[in-house]
Amino acid sequence: MERPIRILFVCLGNICRSPLAEGLFRHHVEMAGLSSHFEIDSAGTGGWHVGEPPDKRMCAVALARGLDIRHLRARQIRPDDLHRHNLVLAMDKENLRSLRRLAGQADTSHVRLFRSFDPKPGTGEVPDPYYGGEDGFIEVFEIVDRTSRALLEHVRREYRL
Ligand code: 4NP
Repeated sequence: MERPIRILFVCLGNICRSPLAEGLFRHHVEMAGLSSHFEIDSAGTGGWHVGEPPDKRMCAVALARGLDIRHLRARQIRPDDLHRHNLVLAMDKENLRSLRRLAGQADTSHVRLFRSFDPKPGTGEVPDPYYGGEDGFIEVFEIVDRTSRALLEHVRREYRL
């Protein structure tokens, strides 16, 4: 087997946006029959929630739409994540700044905003739903679902899959 395409989704806490992106992107990859080509993971720039499952509100919105992410566990990003992955995708601009700081002098051309792949990119950020109501989690689901489908189309073209 050739080397897998490694994709890492990054947000602040790794309990709302990035575990959802990991779960949704993996789902779309599985539906396309391409699982053997990928390694998919997520991490947080912060360490407050390490070891925890995704936020109950995010799990509920996902489960109501057929996606179970309750088995995932939060972890904090490590410096070696940056060079191990082919794409490191930040949920917002603050996450992107944190990743660039972590990279120091190393190349960051593969570190991008996740919504740079969104056909309707809006502000370019997936809004942080943590301090808001259920509507915010539903909006995050819709953004991440649309963007993860578009991301898979991009990667399939790029890697001729
Ligand atoms: P996430 O959401 O970055 O999408 O996982 C957050 C989770 C936790 C916190 C902030 C955002 N927090 O402040 O603990």
